[in-house]
Amino acid sequence: MPSTIVTLTLNGTERELIARPSTTLLNALRETFGLMGAKRGCAQGGCGSCTVLLDGRPAVSCLIPVVTVGGSTVDTIEGLADGDRLTDVQQAFVDHFATQCGFCTPGMIMSATALLDRNPDPTRQDVTEAICGNVCRCTGYEPIITAVLSAAERRRDAPQSPATAGL
Ligand code: FES
Ligand code: FES
Repeated sequence: MPSTIVTLTLNGTERELIARPSTTLLNALRETFGLMGAKRGCAQGGCGSCTVLLDGRPAVSCLIPVVTVGGSTVDTIEGLADGDRLTDVQQAFVDHFATQCGFCTPGMIMSATALLDRNPDPTRQDVTEAICGNVCRCTGYEPIITAVLSAAERRRDAPQSPATAGL
């Protein structure tokens, strides 16, 4: 099949690429756009390290042909921070030592960001379910869950803070 021109909104900016039918969104992000935050772990949809937001919802980019996302909005970890100003979720991961090797962290943060954007008052169970598709081999998950709950608390306490802007 021939290559296709795909136009998408990537981290707030309209971008275009020429893609083969077999090109995944993950490959396009990393190899065409140079965005290396989404990681290639299993490349089979099982680890969540490639998670991005597709039209605001977490999606494993390794399973999505990029030719199917034309007209969509894609947000990656690179689009979250405002310069040096981290989002509340990112800052909470730092504060609670929720990162060790860091391989899972971008995907975890994208899943957590989507959760807090749709549910500002999550329970521990809500957080566990939101990150259930994100595998971490390092942290034991406890610091990650603590970080997400902490970010939610900060967001509720300071709803007008710039750091709560999320996406
Ligand atoms: S690399 Fe996409 S789910 Fe593992
Ligand atoms: S911090 Fe290493 S895999 Fe999660």
